[in-house]
Amino acid sequence: MGDSAATLIKDGRIVAAAEEERFSRRKHHSGFPYEAVQFCLDEANIRMSDVEHVALYWKPWVLRHKAFQAIKSAFISRDMFKARVDRGVAQVGDSYLGMLRHPKRLRERFGPSDFKFHFLEHHQTHAASSFFVSPFERAAILTMDGTGEDTTTLFSVGEGTRLKPIKRIKLPHSLGQFYSAVTNFLGFDMFAGDEWKVMGLAAYGEPEFYDFFSRRVLTTNGNHDFHLNVRVLDHHLAKHYQFSEEIVRALGSPRKSGEDISERHQNIAASAQRVLEDTVLHLLQGLYERTKLEDLCLAGGCAFNSVMNGRIFTETPFKRFFVQPAAGDAGCSLGAALMVYHQKLGRPRDFVMDHAYYGPSFTNEECRAALDAAGLSYETLPDEELLPRVARIIADGGIIGWFQGRMEFGPRALGNRSFLADPRRADMRELLNKKVKLREWFRPLAPSMHAEAAEGLFGRPHYDPFMITVLRVAEGRGESVPAVVHVDGTARPQTVTREANPRYWKLIDEFARLSGVPMLLNTSFNIQEPIVCRPEDAVKTFQGANFDALVLENNLVLRR
Ligand SMILES: [Fe+2]
Repeated sequence: MGDSAATLIKDGRIVAAAEEERFSRRKHHSGFPYEAVQFCLDEANIRMSDVEHVALYWKPWVLRHKAFQAIKSAFISRDMFKARVDRGVAQVGDSYLGMLRHPKRLRERFGPSDFKFHFLEHHQTHAASSFFVSPFERAAILTMDGTGEDTTTLFSVGEGTRLKPIKRIKLPHSLGQFYSAVTNFLGFDMFAGDEWKVMGLAAYGEPEFYDFFSRRVLTTNGNHDFHLNVRVLDHHLAKHYQFSEEIVRALGSPRKSGEDISERHQNIAASAQRVLEDTVLHLLQGLYERTKLEDLCLAGGCAFNSVMNGRIFTETPFKRFFVQPAAGDAGCSLGAALMVYHQKLGRPRDFVMDHAYYGPSFTNEECRAALDAAGLSYETLPDEELLPRVARIIADGGIIGWFQGRMEFGPRALGNRSFLADPRRADMRELLNKKVKLREWFRPLAPSMHAEAAEGLFGRPHYDPFMITVLRVAEGRGESVPAVVHVDGTARPQTVTREANPRYWKLIDEFARLSGVPMLLNTSFNIQEPIVCRPEDAVKTFQGANFDALVLENNLVLRR
């Protein structure tokens, strides 16, 4: 189970939340989140004996169904059957039994405590992670991922402190697994969370294979339901790089990792992306008709599909929608805590998540200690001097590793652990992707912008502190910021308010004074590893890479 994480809440408010990968430095860390738990306790300045409830976002006994589903199938070859059995057995062995030992593990590691332990259903915790921190009193909720215990898609209604599931779609019918299987077909690694790459690539292609996908692979019906045809595209087999004859006949052979990306690959990505979007819009139409609610919450890995989210704005009857920044499984730790607090204990809601800064922070002294240990020379400057200076370096074409305040919860860097650059430079995307981040040329880069400037770029007001929606840039408005406009004329903005992140807002303001553009190019501060967490991680990244300056709180390091 990837992306393990821990969240601590007190009186219904988030005190601390972080993914284990940031501490262990292993992407999508799937083991027990010992370090994240320790961080939460430290941040709250408490011990495990002070914790009253612990909740896990799985019901391990239901996982037996999942193993059964993994094995159960239509006609498949002996090798394929074996692949499925291996996977099913592995899941039962590692996950099911291991989870039952979690309460014991916690007490062994963190000391005696008489907390009450709760095993909660995975998808309900996804739903809780969004609705309970949303601004809505009532909302329709759709959660979609690879799979929970056996549910892959859950329709719910949230009202006050209650969540009511109204419909489930179960394995093998899974939108997340469909997209992951396509990810693998295109030679990317679904274990590394490469689904982003398919979405980025889709913008370059034409939906040439749309009919095949929508008629033979992922089909919808009049019941606002969908069906994944695992005879044609099977997630479990895709993991073993096995694809059916039918799919190879229709799409050509799967792309090998490292093989050049062709127009055909781009068209496969575009087709799969379009079918996913249309399927979700179809589900949402059904959810709206059933609930007649105008507010929508999304969660689950599929809620990161920001291109799909953009279409929700314009093509569904829902008026407002909310996604919190850790929409994947890490966010279930938040949902689990909130489910206990609101649903089980009946405590009222009075918290809206309007920022993601719930991870660790470090003092100037700690930052300097890391710089001294690495033998780097630096200047320590007050913000009045530092921010204009950093803005100048960016305006002159420099790339900054920017580290401040509490680390973001969720996979997006939102101005506290970010690479920052000038959005006006057309070559900046290629420079950042190829020379700094060492990743594919086609990955889009996004702007952080003053919330008040969103209308200038999109032609209408927009508020998205979590960079979760792709929108079309208004005619003629994107030319001045080519590095943050994708090939299809879209952008995925983070809107920054003075309240949510005053220092970052001020830096953007300084840049606007110099350039006339109230935005910065922002991408996560990491190179082929989890986003940097501690000053030491940032220093190590700076030393091993090719960017111009590093800012750790008030300390500025220039590459010499
Ligand atoms: Fe999930």
